[in-house]
Amino acid sequence: MELLQPVRGTADLLPEDKARHNHVVSVALDVARRSGFQEIATPVFEFTQVFSRPLGASSDVVAKETYSFEDRGGTGLTLRPEGTASAMRAVISNGLTQSLPLRWFYAGPMFRYERPQKGRMRQFHQFGCELIGLASPLADAEIISLGAAILSDLNVLQRTTLHLNSLGDQESRLAYRQALIDYLKQYRSSLSKDSQRRLDANPLRILDSKSESDQSILAEAPRLPAYLSDSAKAHFEQVSNCLNEAGIVFELDPLLVRGLDYYSHTAFEFITDELGAQGTVLGGGRYDGLSETLGGPPLPAVGFAAGIERLALLGSDIAAAAPDIGLLAADIKPEVEAEAFGIAETLRRAGLSCVMLINGNMGKKMKAANRLGFAFVIIAGSDELSRGAVCVRCMANGEQSEVKISALTSWLFERLDGTAQKGHTG
Ligand code: HAM
Repeated sequence: MELLQPVRGTADLLPEDKARHNHVVSVALDVARRSGFQEIATPVFEFTQVFSRPLGASSDVVAKETYSFEDRGGTGLTLRPEGTASAMRAVISNGLTQSLPLRWFYAGPMFRYERPQKGRMRQFHQFGCELIGLASPLADAEIISLGAAILSDLNVLQRTTLHLNSLGDQESRLAYRQALIDYLKQYRSSLSKDSQRRLDANPLRILDSKSESDQSILAEAPRLPAYLSDSAKAHFEQVSNCLNEAGIVFELDPLLVRGLDYYSHTAFEFITDELGAQGTVLGGGRYDGLSETLGGPPLPAVGFAAGIERLALLGSDIAAAAPDIGLLAADIKPEVEAEAFGIAETLRRAGLSCVMLINGNMGKKMKAANRLGFAFVIIAGSDELSRGAVCVRCMANGEQSEVKISALTSWLFERLDGTAQKGHTG
């Protein structure tokens, strides 16, 4: 029954998975807020040109990975494959070019028709940060430091290496592009099929080819840093100086080009070797030309995005939050069940987390209560209820107390205080 499966490359986020995702996003947002970033959300679909122009017709994403369709009115739309072009579109369409710089955070689903494997999905989730309106190399360094700080708070920074490169300005890139074509042309027939295609369309992308024979040809190829203009070199040096001052360790990687066409100057990736082939957990760079490709004014900008699935795979020590309190009626008399129902509702309204166990006899309910990890289980029996009380069992030590219903909320608050923050322990 294919219909009953999720579509290839998509997945349900069941409570444990969703808890991990939420944890990643809330840590990231917390760190970003402390650096002055504000959260935004843009639509999950845009006019197709919002992505096709800035990302580049020759990029893999636009050439073969977008989910593009015509809506019922015949308008060409694309499910967003990433968030940067949407963010820039939002700056322009909301007339915010007078309110710069903007520091924006976003999180949500992205869509790419890629070959699914561990850490690579067709619907995946990213959070991202964009710093729009600053040309200074300090902005590049700020964005990279922010990425490092988020990974550090997620306890994964130590398991990644920061790769850093400069793609230079347009002048540098054009000079290098020609040098690379001249060199690779001699080996055209020995290159992989993908690289042969890229030689004409997008030669810089050949640099991160996974093919071993391509890599051996590239060993002698000209290197981008030698083609940087003086101003591009100065920009990159200042980024490196700031990172050094901030104690952020990086590796220079002249082969790092990134998959989207809009980058100039700084490009970077935090890579782990613990996730197989899909090791980039967070990547980004400067994209000064993007606004103009959308028809906006020149607008310098730099940012990054991180894969939430990949970060969730790395940090496996996060549990789904269970409610603190389980409540069950000790017998199935309708009036006892109704009174127990009322008590559960009162506790929730007071701000406690409480779930009522409804199915089965007393034994079954107690078994479920033991399994579900509550801090307290409230047993509402006829005798206690007739005295205006319930029995409360502390699950940590098995102690049972009779507590007056009128005092129940404050009794629980007192004991849960400090231990109430269950769940997100990572
Ligand atoms: P990206 O490198 O295409 O950059 O994606 C960023 C991150 O999203 C990747 O490092 C990876 O962790 C995750 N990711 C990408 N594709 C998939 C997939 N198919 N399945 C699971 N995870 C995936 C961008 O998207 C740029 N917008 C980043 C940026 C922001 N540059 C400047 N500002």
